[in-house]
Amino acid sequence: MENTKKELIEAAREVRTRAYAPYSKFKVGAALRTKNGKIYTGCNVESASYGLTVCAERVAIWKAVSEGEKEFTEIAVVADTQELTPPCGVCRQIIWEFCGDVPVIFANLKGNSEVVTMKELLPRAFDTKFLK
Ligand code: THU
Repeated sequence: MENTKKELIEAAREVRTRAYAPYSKFKVGAALRTKNGKIYTGCNVESASYGLTVCAERVAIWKAVSEGEKEFTEIAVVADTQELTPPCGVCRQIIWEFCGDVPVIFANLKGNSEVVTMKELLPRAFDTKFLK
């Protein structure tokens, strides 16, 4: 695996330690690379009102977009599961919105990883092109 992907996984692993997940105890970290090579990270943040929880992937995207970033090249997601954890359906829609058909890296704490494309994760996506 390329060093840039390893670096992204490492960033997602690190931010995962700061996940606020007292209800599910399921900690997730995400790291997003911009076209210029900058990395934005996010962890899941839960709420006692469960439905208000925000996933790690969206936290990373909200952070990057709110700092003015517009172009992204890849995203990594890290969780402590044997079967590699993919982004949830809501996050797939949001990743598609801001990143398009980028590679998505799934990784766990044991050093296993896999790369899939957003198109594989969200075929026939609804997006802005339908709004014309
Ligand atoms: N979660 C993420 O942060 N990303 C995913 O891809 C899957 C789910 C979070 C949401 C919630 O805090 C916890 O994992 C359990 O669903």
